[in-house]
Amino acid sequence: MRIPTIAWEGGVDGHATLIDQTLLPTEFRLIQIRDIEAMWEAIKVLRVRGAPAIGIAAAFGALLGIQHSTAGSFEGLRRDLQEATDFLATSRPTAVNLFWALDRLRRVADDNAVLPVPELKQLLLDEALGICEDDKQICRAIGRHGAELVPDGAGILTHCNAGGLATADYGTALAVIFTAHEQEKRVHVFADETRPLLQGSRLTAWELMQAGVPVTVICDNMAAQVMREGKVQLVVVGADRIAANGDAANKIGTYGVSILAKAHGIPFYVAAPTSTFDLTLPSGDGIPIEQRDPAEVAEGFGRRTAPEGVDIYNPAFDVTPAAHIAGIITERGVIAPVDEQHVRAMVEA
Ligand code: MRU
Repeated sequence: MRIPTIAWEGGVDGHATLIDQTLLPTEFRLIQIRDIEAMWEAIKVLRVRGAPAIGIAAAFGALLGIQHSTAGSFEGLRRDLQEATDFLATSRPTAVNLFWALDRLRRVADDNAVLPVPELKQLLLDEALGICEDDKQICRAIGRHGAELVPDGAGILTHCNAGGLATADYGTALAVIFTAHEQEKRVHVFADETRPLLQGSRLTAWELMQAGVPVTVICDNMAAQVMREGKVQLVVVGADRIAANGDAANKIGTYGVSILAKAHGIPFYVAAPTSTFDLTLPSGDGIPIEQRDPAEVAEGFGRRTAPEGVDIYNPAFDVTPAAHIAGIITERGVIAPVDEQHVRAMVEA
């Protein structure tokens, strides 16, 4: 049985456990997260990462924030919950799943204001556990819908990690690949290394090897050549936030891959749950892009690789325009063509 990426142990007084993804692939370590500050830190430094997993981590983090609350009334507990969710919301800005999960917890509290505090805490735990359990089913459904788009014998290029490590289990983009593989289609994956934090080579290659899926790691700047050699029949990536018109934010470098795919006539798919859509944003222009520590670029390989004092730019995400996306694979089906009408028809249904 696979060890869960993130889980909750015990009742309301329990704690979260997660795989520390900063250590993979050389070390597999489960860590216990026992307070909200530790969860905030785990999200911030990418011990837990990937949009759906960040949402689950935030929900468990909110639980850690209120579990020892001494509030005796709804108003008191609600204030503590607000404080906890406001704090967690400052950890990472781009993946909308984080804000979506925190909203879900606040809504459950508001809808049950009449309950005594201990019952309310239990209900919040049940909601957080529900987010985690639902994600597993959602990923399986994404896999089923997406596998229909994978021809037998396909070379598939992916960027970053949208696998079991980025979700409760099984993944989004990698769910498509795992399902095709389980259906005994022959597939070969090209995993972009994904500078600067190497989620592709450290995590995607590791997950695919565990599942017995053939995989080749390439540096990000090799994708064009591999496509030109005819080795890629489709691209599938995850997403952190998708606007109403279908513009999709994902790991930095994804936009470039979409341009390469277009130039080579290769279909480019995004796989994401409906919780990754932000229909309040008309286009990707409004998606907040996380800026990260320059040291990730200058010292990423365990030693300094850029001159001391040089200016460094390190946006963690970019936005792929809807026009480059052949389809968005959700748990409800595939959105194609990708435009506001088709996005709303699927997500608001
Ligand atoms: O910075 P990360 O590692 O959290 O970025 C993750 C990605 O960009 C994933 O592709 C995305 O969150 C989808 S995960 C199913």
